[in-house]
Amino acid sequence: PVRHVVCLAGSLRRDSWNRRLLRMAAAHAPATLRLDVWDGLDAVPMFDEDLELREPDGPAGVRSLRAAIAAADGLIIATPEYNHAMPGVLKNALDWLSRESPEGEVLLEKPVAVLGASAGPWGTRLAQASLRQVLHTCGALVMPTPTLFIANAAGRFDENAALVDQATGLSLQRFVLAFEQWMARVAPALARPQA
Ligand code: FNR
Repeated sequence: PVRHVVCLAGSLRRDSWNRRLLRMAAAHAPATLRLDVWDGLDAVPMFDEDLELREPDGPAGVRSLRAAIAAADGLIIATPEYNHAMPGVLKNALDWLSRESPEGEVLLEKPVAVLGASAGPWGTRLAQASLRQVLHTCGALVMPTPTLFIANAAGRFDENAALVDQATGLSLQRFVLAFEQWMARVAPALARPQA
């Protein structure tokens, strides 16, 4: 069986290290996993309960993200760290995802893994802590270990934003394999892709 995982970077930046890490993880995934990097975060509007009333099914960008997650067996989130927390764009998307919808509450009982890369020496420790807290609140099944905190990210990428640090690449592959085991353990039945 092939498990399908949606990968979300909490950054809109074109050369985002976090998105690059997810792309690299997708490129090196084992044959038993399909990793898709979801790239529509810029189309997710600011959450507003009035907007929710006007558009009960949600704005198009939100519907697209919800559908991708609902159809997947798991979700990997790579978060940057902004001022010792997750970036607002990511929190905003999670607030949308936390709501009841035609697809249900899509984070509820969804296996989720969290990693992150940042410029500073702590490698998104605080951003990941805040992200885990929000995911727990949404009822997600967050993989406890291994953790992956990629510090001093600038030094691990070349001028084309390609990862050049081998140790980080290996840690990333181990992390993905651990998440495959986590999904098999906490959600043995495979998700049914939506039509
Ligand atoms: C940052 N950055 C940052 N880095 C860090 O290690 N700890 C922090 O608290 C912050 N705070 C912060 C705030 C704001 C507003 C910005 C714009 C940046 C630097 C951050 O790690 C860097 O911009 C990364 O490149 C962001 O990740 P992506 O976009 O490359 O995925």
